[in-house]
Amino acid sequence: MSESKVEATDHGMVAEFTTVDSLLAACRRVRDAGYIKTDAFTPFPVHGIDKALGIKPTILPWICLVAGITGTMTALVMQIWMNSIDYQYIISGKPFLSLPAFIPVAFELTILFAAFGAFFGMWALNGLPKFSNPVFTDPRFDRATDDRFFLYIDSSDERYDEEGVRALLGETGSDYINKVVEDESPKQVPKFIYSVWALSVAASIIPLLCVLTMRVTNSSKPRFHIFPDMDFSPARDAQQTTSLFGDNRAMRPDVPGTVARGQLSGSMEALTGIDFDALTAVDPGAAAQLVAAYQDEAAGTTTPPAEPVDDTPWLDHIPVTVDEALLARGKQQFGIYCSVCHGMSGLGNGLVNQRATEKQFDTWVPPSNLHDTALYSETYPDGKLFSTITNGVRKMAGYASQIEVQDRWAIVAYVRALQLSQNAPLDVVPAEKQAEVKAAVEAAKENLKRQEEAAAKAAAEREKEQN
Ligand code: HEC
Repeated sequence: MSESKVEATDHGMVAEFTTVDSLLAACRRVRDAGYIKTDAFTPFPVHGIDKALGIKPTILPWICLVAGITGTMTALVMQIWMNSIDYQYIISGKPFLSLPAFIPVAFELTILFAAFGAFFGMWALNGLPKFSNPVFTDPRFDRATDDRFFLYIDSSDERYDEEGVRALLGETGSDYINKVVEDESPKQVPKFIYSVWALSVAASIIPLLCVLTMRVTNSSKPRFHIFPDMDFSPARDAQQTTSLFGDNRAMRPDVPGTVARGQLSGSMEALTGIDFDALTAVDPGAAAQLVAAYQDEAAGTTTPPAEPVDDTPWLDHIPVTVDEALLARGKQQFGIYCSVCHGMSGLGNGLVNQRATEKQFDTWVPPSNLHDTALYSETYPDGKLFSTITNGVRKMAGYASQIEVQDRWAIVAYVRALQLSQNAPLDVVPAEKQAEVKAAVEAAKENLKRQEEAAAKAAAEREKEQN
């Protein structure tokens, strides 16, 4: 019992030196004698003391690196999971998994984790927090912060034996060698620490109480704004009003007759679908003829034409390159914008039409069947079809604001392909496929004949039964 008490109070041996060189020499001796649990205390950093004591370089940078990499990974996994898997949300048209957008958070977390790694790693490696060190009990140790150098050998070292250590330290030329014993001063925490602690806890609750009172009380005064321009942005939201313009609209319509920068894609022909060369070459007498025709009509001497004549010189071709990509784009855009009314196949039986028919809306005008031969390119030029999509026609609205010029031409190309798909001459089919197509047509005709015969037979039988 008494022996263990002696051991508990014996912490090691400390030796005092007056110069750096004598300390370094002592350190080397102690290191060479095989002691590991040693430490040196100096008033200022002494270069080479780690080596003299045989202290290995710290592993703190590695802890820092691993923590930093963990931070990067945490940020990336978190953002990839949130933005590209769990809650996909289009932000500024960026892809869901957009690494450049993830950099700020990844950078911040890398720094944060690395700093935590360095800070807490340092604590752990140093065995902190440690409120007191037994060497502090030595009466002369205070001078370690002033003009003395101390070497300490811990009693937990394998080689430690009191007499041997005392002899070794004596050989190093130290004048003062002392045993380090347990601190005998009372272990109670001073009362004032408790008071300070209680006061700070109480003070830290004040902001929380303020927030809580704000939440449960009412006030007739406006809220306090620390940054008013962040709460009240002068930029308007969609559909809001503004006093800047006479019509009070914050959303400004396009200025008539202008084209926004970068929106003028291609020629006037591609933008309008009208053949401008032909337009300028129009017979100047045509206008006079038109006026005469109307005068005749008013006088009742001629019958007016049943259909108003469209004499716009429409473009008779598609002014952009037609290739597979354009057709694919046209198919996609047709599926998005046109198929709801005109149907995927263009027959005019889209879902909106089906629903309107089912509801029997009497104002409903059914969408045109795009396979009507009157809409073929011979009588309905490409430019006119483009203009129909752009400006609308009779009951159908225009799509200029939703569909880009290039995409409108893509739809024109696709509508042509659709039309061809229902009414193509045999010679557009590759020669080796023609026989196959012919056979299919024959089979379909056979099938139709058989169905008609069966129907006729059934009708005859029903008639017989009734008689
Ligand atoms: C909301 C339904 C609706 C959508 C969507 C729609 N259309 Fe129409 N479309 C109509 C109706 C209805 C008519 C017939 C208008 C009339 O006769 O008053 C029509 C007529 C047409 C005609 C015949 C025009 C003529 O001069 O006779 C064409 C061609 C046409 N649409 C193409 C398209 C294309 C291409 C799209 C896709 C960009 C499209 N439509 C989208 C309802 C629609």
